[in-house]
Amino acid sequence: MKRLVLAVMTVGMLLAGAVQSAEETSAPATENHKVLDQITMNPGGIGGVESLRGASELETTRPADAFKRYPRDQGTIDSDYVYQPPLIPHTIRNYEVSLNANKCLACHSWKNAKEMGATKISVTHYETREGQVLSDVSPRRYFCQQCHVPQADAKPLVGNDFQRVDALR
Ligand code: HEC
Ligand code: HEC
Repeated sequence: MKRLVLAVMTVGMLLAGAVQSAEETSAPATENHKVLDQITMNPGGIGGVESLRGASELETTRPADAFKRYPRDQGTIDSDYVYQPPLIPHTIRNYEVSLNANKCLACHSWKNAKEMGATKISVTHYETREGQVLSDVSPRRYFCQQCHVPQADAKPLVGNDFQRVDALR
């Protein structure tokens, strides 16, 4: 008896589903339907959606962007606010920072900075979060790119009216 009830219910639900989808296809073509049509005609496409970088369909491989240029010899870059991690004025392509090696420290550690002509990391980089000064870089300052980023001559994607703080103008 239970089985029969279950079977009747299942058939009923299937029928209801069929009626509903028939209604959907006969509905007037709204904006949503246009986008849906585009997706069904072009499965895997982006449905006409365009990002700030422009449109590129998922199934086409567009040529890679050219590498951004990191100007050489731009000297150090002025800060925009107090206690800002200074921007990196040189390219860091292929500089490894991992468990095994830290390329940045090959030039910026207190040991090597003078010989390499690089700015040495400041004493804050040797402090633990309890303020204890260690004899080597503090683990919380080991992954340099967490705070320091290089500056390429790239055109900003969106406008920005950020103003440098008064003290540094
Ligand atoms: C081959 C040596 C070398 C390596 C490796 C290197 N740097 Fe530098 N870096 C320099 C030199 C030299 C300067 C000074 C630039 C100048 O005065 O033109 C500098 C400048 C900087 C500055 C600016 C300092 C300031 O006072 O404004 C930062 C920040 C910096 N580097 C971070 C890094 C980070 C992070 C890495 C690793 C991803 C790195 N550097 C790897 C040589 C190096
Ligand atoms: C948690 C964020 C953070 C990390 C990680 C970090 N820094 Fe910094 N760094 C700063 C800040 C903030 C300053 C500026 C204030 C100061 O000196 O502490 C700075 C300053 C510097 C300066 C300029 C020092 C001076 O006297 O003008 C250099 C060079 C530098 N960092 C290199 C590095 C290198 C190389 C690493 C990786 C080994 C690193 N930093 C990791 C935040 C960080």
